[in-house]
Amino acid sequence: MTEKWQDDPEYVGYIEDLLATEAVQKLANYTQHVNSTRLEHSLSVSYYSYKLAKKWGGDARATARAGLLHDLFYYDWRTTKFDEGSHAYMHPRIAVKNAEKITELSDLERDIILKHMWGATIAPPKYKESYIVTMVDKYCAIKEASEPVTENMRRRWRQWFPKKQSI
Ligand SMILES: [Fe+2]
Ligand SMILES: [Fe+2]
Repeated sequence: MTEKWQDDPEYVGYIEDLLATEAVQKLANYTQHVNSTRLEHSLSVSYYSYKLAKKWGGDARATARAGLLHDLFYYDWRTTKFDEGSHAYMHPRIAVKNAEKITELSDLERDIILKHMWGATIAPPKYKESYIVTMVDKYCAIKEASEPVTENMRRRWRQWFPKKQSI
């Protein structure tokens, strides 16, 4: 996960009220992608999406906040099944309901959360910011799941090809 967000006062200002809630802190109790907790994953998605929204002239505040709340659900997605639909369909809806208990959501923020599984779900995002979050979510999921493997490879590489000592 990225820790860079802690050094960005503008970003922290956008999300600190949400981050202080028990509803968001509880996400630390759930594993998301192999080596990351749901809270770490949500912070990464939120921060990277916020940076891209800023770069591309989007609503950075809404992107940061909805990015942090996009996976606000409390079950193990590997084992919990729903009669109403797949995990991909259900958890964005559950996240919106949970998010509305701790903050008011704008139409943009609701769309970001609801459509973040686009690709696995059919309804396309309505806003640029929603596209950013759904893409960043996929990027972070792959990065988090593959981190143990890439770290292992990096370690081996360093072992096999140590930095040249000056002769
Ligand atoms: Fe999700
Ligand atoms: Fe996610």
